[in-house]
Amino acid sequence: MVQGGPNMIFVIEGTEWGDEGKGKITDYLARRMDIVVRHQGGNNAGHSVVVDGVRYALQSLPSGITHENITNVIANGCVINPKALIEEISRVKDNGVKRFNLLISNRAHIIMPYHIDLDGAYEEVLKKDKIGTTKKGIGPCYMDKMARIGLRMGDLLEPAYLKERLEDDLAIKNVELQAFGKKPYEFDLLYKDLLKYGKTLKPYITDTSMFLNKAIEEKKNILFEGAQANMLCIENGTYPYVTSSSPLASSVPLDAGIPAKYITNVIGILKAYATRVGEGPFVTELNNELGDKIRDIGHEYGTVTKRPRRIGYLDLVIVKQAVRLSGMSYLAIMLLDVLTSLNPLMICIGYSLNGREIDYVPSTISEVSRCKPIYKEFKGWSKDLTGAKSFAELPKECQDYLSFIENYLHTPIALISVGPERDKTIIKEDMFHD
Ligand code: IMP
Repeated sequence: MVQGGPNMIFVIEGTEWGDEGKGKITDYLARRMDIVVRHQGGNNAGHSVVVDGVRYALQSLPSGITHENITNVIANGCVINPKALIEEISRVKDNGVKRFNLLISNRAHIIMPYHIDLDGAYEEVLKKDKIGTTKKGIGPCYMDKMARIGLRMGDLLEPAYLKERLEDDLAIKNVELQAFGKKPYEFDLLYKDLLKYGKTLKPYITDTSMFLNKAIEEKKNILFEGAQANMLCIENGTYPYVTSSSPLASSVPLDAGIPAKYITNVIGILKAYATRVGEGPFVTELNNELGDKIRDIGHEYGTVTKRPRRIGYLDLVIVKQAVRLSGMSYLAIMLLDVLTSLNPLMICIGYSLNGREIDYVPSTISEVSRCKPIYKEFKGWSKDLTGAKSFAELPKECQDYLSFIENYLHTPIALISVGPERDKTIIKEDMFHD
């Protein structure tokens, strides 16, 4: 329910391991929004949006970018690879988006080439214990932010200050790079590139916190989209197999520089089954033919790295954690059509750990790795779902699957996605109360 004033401040959050289809829901909700904001992460994310048959694989750009009348914000909680962002902007333009509004926070940190080298270097050292990162430099960039030696987008517009900051950062980073046997960086080349990026991105760089607070005052509708998801949260995920920021709704106020009290709705996005890329425990993983079949039907390959995603049955224990931490107002369930013709279907409703039944995710990897899934079995359906326009048009077995999820999570499902296109979305509950 929209509370606290006439404007809508929505947060979209992934409840599993990312790749739930958040891009489609953001794009769907965007038509009611004035502003769409990416609040954390960087170009490790891959948001797919299909508009008029064109598929946009977005990485750093917010999913509202294809809507001409929406302002898209990359907030201070994000990390930005300026070279990759400039390329992404060109790609989107080439795909037909002629006009767009983009604002980039002057406080967002810059992913430097040495962050990418170090991301790879840490993984090499970790060997069998590697995280399986996207190798985009995300972790090392957030490390520098916390170590207070990072460079920020606003620095690009102040050449003298940038010079000082880069000299300091490089003095530390080159020592680290050499310790890993990597080539150190020359100041001049990096500096020249940064100035060039600054020139290109200057029209977009601003104080986005000021912009957003003014927009709230002006009763604008704002959608915050998280990249990655609950289980990849640095605080609450399967640490260390996580990303280096928090995709949770509770991170939004800090990531965007707005007061927490203005958030009206949190929408949790879940897939009808589970997927994971990268390493780390996955209790419901299907390392078998069924897993391969779901991967093929669901085209489950990484948007960024093209890695085949690991596949599993829907795990409501992890989704329940997201609901508990973020207080979801509604759920959106994605890729339901992928499950058509699979029979029976299983939903994980608890874990067995050391002979005990639990319904939460333990904090240590060693415990999570020992958890065995407790399943509830459901009858599958064979009727094609892609033409369904309402919940009532879905097969009875499919309705049962969805109703169980709602009851288990004590949260209503508002949207059901039965295909990648915009119009393949069933509205079960009206979030806007039209
Ligand atoms: P990093 O974010 O590149 O440091 O990777 C850390 C972990 O998060 C790895 O397991 C990645 O596969 C995973 N990860 C990062 N971004 C995404 C995403 O957008 N979708 C799914 N997994 C992701």
